Amino acid sequence: MEQGRIILGSIYSVHHQEEIYPDSKTFRPERFLERQFSATEFMPFGGGSRRCVGTALAMAELAIALGTWIKQGNFALDEPGPVQPQRRGVTLGQKGGVKMRFIGPV
Ligand code: HEM
Repeated sequence: MEQGRIILGSIYSVHHQEEIYPDSKTFRPERFLERQFSATEFMPFGGGSRRCVGTALAMAELAIALGTWIKQGNFALDEPGPVQPQRRGVTLGQKGGVKMRFIGPV
């Protein structure tokens, strides 16, 4: 290996290993209820000494935001077809946003 080469770990590739996440392209959040994933299998906040310093804050924000939205109502995708991913630096976002429809209290 030449000196000066940059090596990056790919979180995306880890999260799409079929042995760990069968049918990995399918959005199936229930898979997280079916088994526990180790820190090397599920790493949305990276790992090691450079692991995201905002992990606890992000998890608290998500719980508050999701809890608030779910309490107020439900949402459905407003456009047919899968949401297209788009690269944003080292992470992924949604191409053109995700148009949702508010359904009302459940
Ligand atoms: C869902 C929300 C978030 C996700 C998915 C996320 C994910 C990540 C990832 C993957 C890394 C790279 C870790 C690595 O190199 O191994 C990172 C680094 C970092 N994150 Fe986050 N993050 C989130 C929220 C936040 C928040 C809320 C803050 C601050 C308030 C934050 C601050 C940072 C900082 C400062 C680093 C650089 C750490 C370092 O290089 O030592 N992040 N984050």
